[in-house]
Amino acid sequence: MITPLTQNITPNREPPDLKQYAQAGGYQGLQRAIKTLTPQEVLQEVKESNLRGRGGAGFPTGKKWSFVPMGDDAPRPKYLVANADEMEPGTFKDRLLMEGDPHQLLEGMILASYAIQAEVAYIFLRAEYRLAAQRLKKAIAEAYEMNYLGKNLLGSAFSLELHLHTSAGRYICGEETALLNALEGKRAIPRAKPPYPQVSGLWGQPTVVNNVETLCNVPHIIARGAAWYQNLSRSEDGGTKFYGASGRVKHPGAWELPMGTPIREILEEHAGGMKDGFQLRGLLPGGASTDFLTEEHLDVPMDYDSVQSAGSRLGTGTMIILDDRTCPVGMLCNLEHFFAQESCGWCTPCRDGLPWVEKILLGIEQGQGQPEDLDYLTMHTRLLGPGHTFCAHAPGAMEPLQSALKYFRADFEQHIHHQRCPFK
Ligand code: NAI
Repeated sequence: MITPLTQNITPNREPPDLKQYAQAGGYQGLQRAIKTLTPQEVLQEVKESNLRGRGGAGFPTGKKWSFVPMGDDAPRPKYLVANADEMEPGTFKDRLLMEGDPHQLLEGMILASYAIQAEVAYIFLRAEYRLAAQRLKKAIAEAYEMNYLGKNLLGSAFSLELHLHTSAGRYICGEETALLNALEGKRAIPRAKPPYPQVSGLWGQPTVVNNVETLCNVPHIIARGAAWYQNLSRSEDGGTKFYGASGRVKHPGAWELPMGTPIREILEEHAGGMKDGFQLRGLLPGGASTDFLTEEHLDVPMDYDSVQSAGSRLGTGTMIILDDRTCPVGMLCNLEHFFAQESCGWCTPCRDGLPWVEKILLGIEQGQGQPEDLDYLTMHTRLLGPGHTFCAHAPGAMEPLQSALKYFRADFEQHIHHQRCPFK
């Protein structure tokens, strides 16, 4: 199995420095691009690779870059931002990539900046990721020293400044327009879209915001070509994916596998199956803001379209497993507490609706639920659903709830009927 993203990563070891990264084939994509490819050719290669955004939404990366105005009359400066504000519950893949191989992210960022002709790039890093910050700082200094960053990269006409920025520490800062506001020193609330950042982003200038894992794929696509990258995959979406599993599996962790690897294979071969004495009841395929899937979906390939057809979303691809000895209502209570706390407060449905959802769930879990509570919860999944709020935060929070009401309804009813949690 070829694992381009994680090939240089050895757990609990210092990451490769610039020299070691280059010895392992690093910065070859950059050399190739700067010396032999035009920005349009880099963009075309990424388009043909079928790379889709790994932050959760799966928007085609080449297509996103192609919206940036190019040419002599394009507004300047242009910006590239690596979204490293990884805060989706159960998700830790970007942290491993940044701690394990920081130069890979830098090379991806330089290539993306070259493709859109950005002059300035930022890494917007989750505040708690201190080890990643330390390692990225060192890698940035090394890259400046080798003229992979700075003025006239490798003797070309292209120059790039790159800065590391530590996040304000809220979940909503990962939403790209809230992130841009935070970077500008404003309160982190999402902006209306359109205009999309590619046209009007940081300080109103053209800006591409890409997830860390997405950017880490780019050096390999440019070094070895779109066809090679596409062929790594078991689906239409190109390349590999950094999947993960947490919960009561024997070996929780993260693994780089071909895009489209079935859920069963990830759980049984890589996570080692369920711990002894525990059965699988459900799973959130891509972090907390996705719909539950159950045992009947174990053969679904983990790619964007297949997971969507099964009724959920690939999201970040890091699964949260629900076992038969954990209360689904309690789990939902915990998740909705998180989402309610992390609402930015800008729009009323999200600010007021999420605490109501949490309150109703807590009542049911504590044995004070009423039969009509299930109707209230269902009503909230509609009122806080897509199209009713300013951004995707509350609709994302409703995904695990609406699917839990479908798959684990009997658990909710038992809590209400017996006025207690049957798991306690
Ligand atoms: P979105 O679908 O609105 O946008 C995704 C990306 O595609 C953005 O960069 C956007 O600019 C671009 N895009 C979408 N439509 C476009 C158009 N018509 N023209 C130009 N560009 C367009 O999704 P959003 O709200 O940015 O992200 C939601 C996702 O974030 C969810 O799938 C969720 O799983 C994920 N997420 C990930 C977290 C993490 O820690 N990795 C945390 C929270 C959510």
